[in-house]
Amino acid sequence: MNIIIYPDEILRQKTSPIEEIDDTVRKNAEDMLKLMYKMEGVGLAGPQVGWSKSLIVIDASGDKEGERVFINPVIVEDEGILLSDEGCLSFPGITGKISRADEVEVVAYNLKGEQLKITAGGLLSRVFQHEIDHLNGKLFIDKMTSASGLSNAQKLKELEQRYRKVRAS
Ligand code: CO
Repeated sequence: MNIIIYPDEILRQKTSPIEEIDDTVRKNAEDMLKLMYKMEGVGLAGPQVGWSKSLIVIDASGDKEGERVFINPVIVEDEGILLSDEGCLSFPGITGKISRADEVEVVAYNLKGEQLKITAGGLLSRVFQHEIDHLNGKLFIDKMTSASGLSNAQKLKELEQRYRKVRAS
């Protein structure tokens, strides 16, 4: 399992919901968590490992405890607004400022098929919004402030060129 890097088109596709929690789902979730820790990320979404399914893994505190796998997550409530820095494992070297809701309420399922209702604030809230965007083919570059977009334009172009080169070789 590897991280899919921008501008691979799978990152732009809307994922399909998970209908059944089978061995593939369990194995992919486990591998995604391992990869996320290895890359020192705080979240990872299915499309970022080439799997167009509605599953995200999150560990905003990095303590490897509690619920970390969220299946078919949906934001049902959001409140406030906060501008802060963000990065993404699919965009190496790029960070930018993005406005997000300050607090969100998320409904999702865990690997046991139990429904979870999570109220998240701070970094956790931001990570949920970022990862759920991935499930809808939305990327953080779409939401960056125009100043951040401008300062990252060259780096984005380089990622696009690198991708085309790898494709051509
Ligand atoms: Co991301």
